[in-house]
Amino acid sequence: MSSFTRRFAARALLATACAAFVPAAGAQDPVLNLYSARHYPTDEALYTNFTKASGIRIQRVEADDAGILARLKAEGTASPADVILLVDGARLWRAEQEGLFQPVKSALLEQRIPPSLRGADSGQGSSWYGMTMRARIVVYDKSRIKPADVDRYEKLAAPALAGQLCIRSGSHPYNLSLFAAMLEHLGAQRTEKWLEGLVANLARAPKGGDTDQIKSVAAGECGVAVTNSYYLARLMRSAAPADREVVERLGVVFPDQAGRGTHVNISGAAVARHAKHRDAAVKFIEYLASDAAQRMLADGNNEYPAVASVRTDNPALAALGPFKIDAVPIARIGANTAQVQQMLDRVGFK
Ligand code: FE2
Repeated sequence: MSSFTRRFAARALLATACAAFVPAAGAQDPVLNLYSARHYPTDEALYTNFTKASGIRIQRVEADDAGILARLKAEGTASPADVILLVDGARLWRAEQEGLFQPVKSALLEQRIPPSLRGADSGQGSSWYGMTMRARIVVYDKSRIKPADVDRYEKLAAPALAGQLCIRSGSHPYNLSLFAAMLEHLGAQRTEKWLEGLVANLARAPKGGDTDQIKSVAAGECGVAVTNSYYLARLMRSAAPADREVVERLGVVFPDQAGRGTHVNISGAAVARHAKHRDAAVKFIEYLASDAAQRMLADGNNEYPAVASVRTDNPALAALGPFKIDAVPIARIGANTAQVQQMLDRVGFK
């Protein structure tokens, strides 16, 4: 050990010893522990603004949905988590089922977040609240596909599209939720047949994220791809010439506009079951539902606000236009995902 390290270690030890008796400056500051699966740089300003307005400091743990839920379970009652932000409705539902959240009764949230975007309410308030929406849309190569060939999810399995489809892993939460909505509409037999058709139409084994699928259509590797709307909107707003070229090659379809509507997923917030700062947690979720925060959440990541009255100023979303949303309740989607996963295993959709 160098003398510097030794000195440092001694001082650290002293600091630890003192901290046990005398609270360090700032130790009493109100704090909020946030476990977030939203990893969008534009969300940073959102947290800064909340701290400025409330004096509550946010300590963040970032992981994906599955990682956060595993961590909550492992930590149990000792978990420091106050607010949980997830990016998939089925995962919010699963966490609610597993008792990882606590109900929140809030007149403000009830007034602003529509019932279809809230978790179960057994009389003590909803277990989670949707904050943003993202549509699962279709992009296609304008030079070889007609919009009428891909304007319904069911058509993606048509033999006419053999070898043309690019899509990320079947068991990714975004796809599981879409397939679970299809199960609700089509029933088990037709859904499994449809999934079989999707596998038969793959241009290549599923790989990469949604942006990779979009770029593969532009590169001519596939004729059609499935993506969340914000990945496309991000490319539409990009100033990079390569991204502009990608967008110019693409046609866009919001599937099932003449029928049941396009599948929409959500990101949403909940108060953790064992939250140590419950009041701050509710305050933060109410803040996320404010006009300003909704605009930042939605515009920053090119999503749609959960609060219907909020108007965004987003040229890409304006260009994509309004659309009809599939009304399958998120609880049904959540309940269906386990059955969908079994189907994916059977049809070999990795
Ligand atoms: Fe995403």
